[in-house]
Amino acid sequence: MADDRLIVALDFHTMEEVKDLVGRLGDSVSTYKVGMELFYSVGSESVIWLKEQGKKVFLDLKLHDIPNTVASGLCSLLDLGADMLNVHAGGGFTMMKTAADRLHAEAEKRGVPCPKLIAVTVLTSISQEEWDDLGFAQNVQIKSIAVRFAKLAQKAGLDGVVASPHETELIHEGCGSDFLVVTPGVRPEGSSVGDQSRIATPAAALKAGASHLVVGRPIRQAVDPVKAANDIIKEMEQVNK
Ligand code: C5P
Repeated sequence: MADDRLIVALDFHTMEEVKDLVGRLGDSVSTYKVGMELFYSVGSESVIWLKEQGKKVFLDLKLHDIPNTVASGLCSLLDLGADMLNVHAGGGFTMMKTAADRLHAEAEKRGVPCPKLIAVTVLTSISQEEWDDLGFAQNVQIKSIAVRFAKLAQKAGLDGVVASPHETELIHEGCGSDFLVVTPGVRPEGSSVGDQSRIATPAAALKAGASHLVVGRPIRQAVDPVKAANDIIKEMEQVNK
């Protein structure tokens, strides 16, 4: 049985690469993330093909625009059958609430399951130094912003957030354990950090309360991606669900 808490990021630009990796990982991975690179390259085919293979899909397009545009955009994605969609919490409470309300209403109208809707808090690639450079407010820790965004997302009716493993515990305390915390920035011991900043190992992220782990390069760029995925799955098994 695959561990649904692992989401493998398919940051490719061709379906050949997608089919190769998904085929190699077989039944050991149930859930995949389609992000901008793949969706902008091949479009809907990526999600439709994964659903045909019986996989779950997190369609990570991180919508960030005015409320009506985001809500309409999400409704346009409904027919693809993705299991999870997301927006940027930085778009504000009204944007998130309009998005959640319209998505639920539209799914009900069409008689299709409503995907989980989550909000990106602060990108896992942003360091405290880079955050300070943005100049929003002086001496504000990323952690407290992530928790603030998570509470706003929950109030707006969203199902969870994307956050770094560093903020997961505080978000759990503030929003309760049913609120999803999807964590990218996951790096097994010894793997390359790349452009990520606020990272943790798979076990540490789960122990901090992550509901799902998003892992891309540590699997995709491994010499043996199947072994890399299985090692992560083994590490995850050590942490209770
Ligand atoms: O390769 P890596 O494991 O760093 O991939 C992480 C994935 O998660 C990428 O597809 C990236 O777009 C996504 N992501 C992230 N940080 C966020 C939200 C999404 O890294 N805050």
